[in-house]
Amino acid sequence: MGERKIIVLERPDLLYVRAAEEIAHLAGEAICTHGEFCIALSGGSTPASVYELLATRFHFSVSWKDVQFFWGDERCVGPDDALSNFAMANRTMLSKLNLKPEQVHRMRGELEPEAGARAYEEELRRAFALKPGELPRFDLVLLGLGDNRHTLSLFPGDPAIHETRKMVAAVDVDAEPRRRLTLTAAVVNNAQRVMFLAAGESKACAVKDVIEGPRDPDKYPAQAIDPEDGELIWVLDRAAASLLEGR
Ligand code: 6PG
Repeated sequence: MGERKIIVLERPDLLYVRAAEEIAHLAGEAICTHGEFCIALSGGSTPASVYELLATRFHFSVSWKDVQFFWGDERCVGPDDALSNFAMANRTMLSKLNLKPEQVHRMRGELEPEAGARAYEEELRRAFALKPGELPRFDLVLLGLGDNRHTLSLFPGDPAIHETRKMVAAVDVDAEPRRRLTLTAAVVNNAQRVMFLAAGESKACAVKDVIEGPRDPDKYPAQAIDPEDGELIWVLDRAAASLLEGR
């Protein structure tokens, strides 16, 4: 188990700025030490405001040409669909950064799900030059937390929560759209840093269960995220952190 850090901001808008600041800082650090920053983006509504800030107020704080973008999960829809996680990141951030196509490693939600999962494993092997049995080491994986305690597209009760052989799983979840592609916890747990973003009162019970509840990843899938040799950072607003002990 690596280091753990919980950052609590008074309001959601301050959380977005703090998350963007942390990402810009981590990008600079990674680019200085090994020449590039490999980030896996999350879907959901919370990161959208962070992506917008990164592309505007933080535009000149990051050397975008040295950033490689990946995704933690994707809905099985086309890249232009309003429900696509790629489409959200593209609209809010990527389209404003003047990137080369080879910097954007999207999950191909338009493929048949199992084929999409295998294609993304192939993409990870190629992009990280992985040898057989090796896992990618992301500089940063951004994650959200669902009210039902899911993260990525690992929903309560899904056997994919315990997947260790595959890097990417095709799953059928209890939310629309049902068919999704997701990195497995094994991949995320090999990252250098993992950052959960959660805001709002509706997240308070989920945050409490995942951080302080009894260990039960089948019920609380976000507990499966536990980087072995990396840092886990929670960036929360006051409302999302309100049920944590001592806050
Ligand atoms: C997705 C996600 C998902 C998300 C959480 C939190 O594709 O839906 O990647 O895991 O991060 O559902 O979403 P919010 O930030 O919208 O609450």
